[in-house]
Amino acid sequence: MTFRNLETADLAGKRALVRVDFNVPMDGGRVTDDTRLRAALPTIRFLGAKGAKVVLLAHFDRPKGKRVSEMSLKPVVAPLAALLEQPVAFADDCVGPDAQAVVDGLEPGGVALLENLRFHAGEEKNDPAFAAELAKLGDLYVDDAFSAAHRAHASTEGVARLLPAYPGLAMRRELEMLDAALGQPVKPVLGVVGGSKVSTKLDLLKNLVGKLDALAIGGGMANTFLYAQGHGVGASLCETDLADTAREIMALAEKSGCELLLPVDLVVADDLKPGVATQVRGLDAVGAGEKIFDAGPRSVERLLQVMDQSKTLIWNGPLGVFEVPPFDAATMAAARHAASLAKSGKLVAVAGGGDTVAALNAARATDEFTFVSTAGGAFLEWMEGKTLPGVAALAI
Ligand code: 3PG
Repeated sequence: MTFRNLETADLAGKRALVRVDFNVPMDGGRVTDDTRLRAALPTIRFLGAKGAKVVLLAHFDRPKGKRVSEMSLKPVVAPLAALLEQPVAFADDCVGPDAQAVVDGLEPGGVALLENLRFHAGEEKNDPAFAAELAKLGDLYVDDAFSAAHRAHASTEGVARLLPAYPGLAMRRELEMLDAALGQPVKPVLGVVGGSKVSTKLDLLKNLVGKLDALAIGGGMANTFLYAQGHGVGASLCETDLADTAREIMALAEKSGCELLLPVDLVVADDLKPGVATQVRGLDAVGAGEKIFDAGPRSVERLLQVMDQSKTLIWNGPLGVFEVPPFDAATMAAARHAASLAKSGKLVAVAGGGDTVAALNAARATDEFTFVSTAGGAFLEWMEGKTLPGVAALAI
């Protein structure tokens, strides 16, 4: 796909309608993690420095087309203004006279945030009339919200078709890094996919085995694969009804030359409690009442060896229940090893998706990874090989 280049655009005095993802964690009206605000700063600053009037469009939570006061974006204004070190105007509505008045009041370089797009049903319906209302507020459209690009909504898709549309700087970097990891990666490429259920990652696994040289499967979903191979998994989480699907994925992997790395030993316990007594079990040695909560040391060692031979790593999902030590051991060891390889330039390490970011943060590996995406659902859909409507709408 080819995109317009914001860096060569004529921006002075223009109203730039910028879609950002400010769907941030909030507690009692206070932003508790400003990662997504920080991610939008380079684009906002760039546009401001070029003399554009910056109009920020965003959603928060899922108010389903109604005005829900607890889902207002107003609490974002103060932390954003503090990060930008400049005032941020706020409009009580994202379309109509309130929005128009705030946009009209902007000076070149000024920034305004409009109220939650999802207070209007037209946003999620991608209603052309609502998209046209939004388009009235801008001369050009910039999408800097990769993490919302899997939604074909008015602010991510419809409006992009009505104005000259550009990827923002964060969106651009995200697309470049994802391409480096899975589009046109330096080979060999290793994938690490974890998480509790195979059922949520079926499409992703099927797509990956056709593209990667090796794929390590961890977390609860590995139990389903071990079960499908005929190994006992005791009282562990296991989707027995997906055994056929797991076998199908294993056959696909074999056919396309992707080496599947399933655990060869397992950390088990009777209960998921911090500091509980644990045992390391070989395959087929898991007791009937025991539950698998992490990959064992030999599995980790083998994964690190494959990592050493790889040039690119794409990671989604933890290898064990990393939130409850000591079941974080495999995830921490693999994350630290990938981080140090990436830091020394031996590995392009890209990660993303909900829990993954938390796991890498816990391992203090995030800064050393080549790229960590803040996207959840969008990252998964991209790993599934789907075209994201918000990205497709920017293509020229
Ligand atoms: C996210 O937080 O992943 C995005 O902002 C998308 O939010 P949504 O799942 O409510 O569409």
